Amino acid sequence: MQIVMIGAGYVGLVSGACFSDFGHNVICVDKDEDRIAALRQARIPIFEPGLADLVERNVRAGRLSFTADASSAVPGADVVFLAVGTPSRRGDGFADLSFIYAAVREIVPLMAENGVIATKSTVPVGTGDEIERIVRELRPEASIAVVSNPEFLREGAAIDDFKRPDRIVIGTDDACARAVMGEVYRPLYLNAAPLVFVSRPTAEVIKYAANAFLATKITFINEIADLCEQVGANVSDVARGIGLDKRIGPKFLHAGPGYGGSCFPKDTLALVKSANDHGVAMRVVEAVVAVNDQRKRAMARKVVTACGGSVRGKRIAVLGLTFKPNTDDMREAPSLSIIRALQDGGAIVHAHDPEGESQARELLSDVTYFADAYSCAEGADAIVIVTEWEAFRALDLARLRTLLHTPVLVDLRNVYPPDEVKRHGFTYVGIGRPT
Ligand code: NAD
Ligand code: UGA
Repeated sequence: MQIVMIGAGYVGLVSGACFSDFGHNVICVDKDEDRIAALRQARIPIFEPGLADLVERNVRAGRLSFTADASSAVPGADVVFLAVGTPSRRGDGFADLSFIYAAVREIVPLMAENGVIATKSTVPVGTGDEIERIVRELRPEASIAVVSNPEFLREGAAIDDFKRPDRIVIGTDDACARAVMGEVYRPLYLNAAPLVFVSRPTAEVIKYAANAFLATKITFINEIADLCEQVGANVSDVARGIGLDKRIGPKFLHAGPGYGGSCFPKDTLALVKSANDHGVAMRVVEAVVAVNDQRKRAMARKVVTACGGSVRGKRIAVLGLTFKPNTDDMREAPSLSIIRALQDGGAIVHAHDPEGESQARELLSDVTYFADAYSCAEGADAIVIVTEWEAFRALDLARLRTLLHTPVLVDLRNVYPPDEVKRHGFTYVGIGRPT
């Protein structure tokens, strides 16, 4: 198959590289010429484990290429995937669909008569209908189909998620488009991934519902963690105790500083807004959004309390800035709100992140960055683990104890056993654990 991916970001680049690894011919198009120039020189613009090798292998095999010029790529495509951003619209929280519609207006005049547009970007229900309206307006004679094909990969585990998905959702009522999409994903369902064929609006709702449900699960366990702290219970044991019930499941029950990232925050908000537009109140999701926002500020207060009630003039060493490990993505990372709140309280913030520093520097001013955890901790009044990178799981606590000015460890990801940390002379504060 000949596949074109519009947008070579986290989703487009990973999906494009994986499709080419399955033997399809893929051209990734991005309007960001610097990004394309970098990709053509085998420089990967994002950090995603395994992606550099995957791209290199498929470029060498002649199955994967990059261009900033849609007109050179789109005409021969069987399927054109849309993988452009759908960020929150400034001010009102609706999904900003301007990148989607601009891309559609650009590709439709270039497409084959019977091509397929497959939307991988996360979009509110009804967006496919509007894309179809634009297609009919620009190409009334053509039989171009518009399919919803939401993507469920996670950053940091994106290649594995793409290649071994729990399911593939394809939203279309068009029999030809169904057959084409079945062919695109044939290598995957031969790997036993179920193909779920549904209507287009259903596929659009599935994506928002999945993200909102996962965000709700995290927020629920975070509130249970707050209760555990007050009553001397242990949230990790509670998560295990409920997660063993197959109806609940063990995943997405890790209490922490609140969910972040490029998707849960914007998608929960966009779901609320688009449901409201259809006259439906999303009270559960609204509460999730509010509780998660408050939680990030509450995490800063946790640090202040651990530091004896004030951080004014104190040095706080923050380990981990990205919204989760194994990515360089800083979008809506909890570290952003936590650090700003600490700075508002007069703290001097030192920070280290294995991959996120260059994005962090653009977002967080007045932070001093260090190349490793130990230099970051030197002279600090507290260490705060915000993101659970593997490199922070086996820190030499005895060495840290000698480097710190005050031995306080605030572990917002419950990485360390409290007793072990205390044995090294630290004050330990975790999430939802007896201390
Ligand atoms: P991103 O910002 O990393 O990448 C989007 C890319 O699209 C950018 O490189 C941009 O230059 C390019 N672009 C925009 N308009 C274009 C156009 N007209 N022509 C060519 N290129 C264009 O975004 P992302 O994180 O990959 O997310 C893309 C979509 O996928 C979003 O809707 C998101 O919600 C969804 N999604 C993301 C993830 C994730 O883990 N990041 C997972 C599932 C779904
Ligand atoms: C999430 C979904 O998991 C993907 O299925 C989806 O495709 C994607 O959003 C999307 O639509 O973009 P992602 O944001 O990359 O993926 O990463 P997650 O692993 O879901 O983590 C999101 C946030 O939740 C992180 O801040 C993470 O630390 C937090 N989290 C996750 C918890 O606090 N506890 C958990 O148990 C799990």
